[in-house]
Amino acid sequence: MQTAGGRVGEFRRIDSLPPYVFATVDRLKQELRRAGEDVIDLGFGNPDIPSPEVAVEKLAEAVHNPRNHRYSASRGIPRLRHAICDLYRRRFGVELDPETQAITTIGAKEGLAHLMWVLLEPGDAAIVPSPSYPIHIYAPMLAGATVGRAPMHGGGDVFDAFVEAFARTEPRPRVLILSFPHNPTTATVDLDLMQRAVDFAREHGIVLVHDFAYADLGFDGYEPPSILQAEGAEEVAVELYSLTKSFSMAGWRVGFLVGNADIVAALAKLKSYLDYGTFQPIQIAAIVAMNEAPDYPEEVRARYRSRRDALCTGLARSGWVIEPPRATMFVWAPIPEAFAELSSLEFALHLAREAKVAVSPGEGFGPGGERFVRFALVENEQRIGQAVRGIRRVLRAGPADPRVSSRRGTV
Ligand SMILES: Cc1ncc(COP(=O)(O)O)c(C=O)c1O
Repeated sequence: MQTAGGRVGEFRRIDSLPPYVFATVDRLKQELRRAGEDVIDLGFGNPDIPSPEVAVEKLAEAVHNPRNHRYSASRGIPRLRHAICDLYRRRFGVELDPETQAITTIGAKEGLAHLMWVLLEPGDAAIVPSPSYPIHIYAPMLAGATVGRAPMHGGGDVFDAFVEAFARTEPRPRVLILSFPHNPTTATVDLDLMQRAVDFAREHGIVLVHDFAYADLGFDGYEPPSILQAEGAEEVAVELYSLTKSFSMAGWRVGFLVGNADIVAALAKLKSYLDYGTFQPIQIAAIVAMNEAPDYPEEVRARYRSRRDALCTGLARSGWVIEPPRATMFVWAPIPEAFAELSSLEFALHLAREAKVAVSPGEGFGPGGERFVRFALVENEQRIGQAVRGIRRVLRAGPADPRVSSRRGTV
């Protein structure tokens, strides 16, 4: 239909977004489930571990208080901002001013997406890791900016990948998005890399945005560094910390932007126009989670580590050897040689159909992901064991399985 403003059904910004390849695997999963199959879903990184009981109880209590039914503060109530600053002091030895250096966001994802609106506009550029958690690419693009990619599988130093991407990207990038431990590749870095990034940003006058969604999911003694631990970071850097993974509070949508006061103020100004803040009982319960369940991230971490071991050991026994990740809730697995002729989407569909295991095709995370699939550790060890048995059958059957060669048939 033609209107004065253009065609209904023709949209701005979203029309250039590619179809989500993850949806293809999801559709097959649902079809199989409708047909009665028990599909183990290791695709979407949707945490299955319950949230801390103290937070659940506090939420139930706070919701009965009518004073909490009103609009709240869009940058977060003061005690919530104090709680995140206390956590940063305790956990990372970083001092932050709750008035100027911390703001609550509706999860790290919303925080990052809207942050790009105040940092970028058409004619600007940002550098993002590649492959990438999709919003890292699309948030700058939705803000109208160009995106340069720093390959995570380039074989060299991760920092060099960013420096090279910076040098070759036109126009000169204003923003560098970092995110370590990294989803999907599980790449980790140490404080030295953060320091080099901060030094580089200060020298070149660029902003560093560190998405720290897996802050508490390091294994075997590895402690992921906060970028704010680097000297001089508060001049150029902000960090997104989230309760989603650390406290297993995905659906509550509580995250924070902390660090450089000017950038925090810029996001606060934008958000004051966009939202009235998270429902206050949720903010109150989030305070309780951080203050009264400070060891919960440790429990969550132990659960994911045990699942990581179950998956990596089981797959290795089946002939698919994957280096166990040092962090995150994922296993990033190179597609076995025998299946090299399949794309990551084809291989993921094959696993869903034949092993009854849903995984995320690496190509969904952009360039550099094509030769991989990602397992999310969101089922327990017993279910992971069942997944491994299904995958073993597929590996044994090999690509000679006639169903593989008919892969271009229906999904
Ligand atoms: C790198 C990264 N950032 C952000 C998120 C989303 O976090 P939140 O639930 O806090 O929006 C995820 C979730 O998978 C993630 O992997």
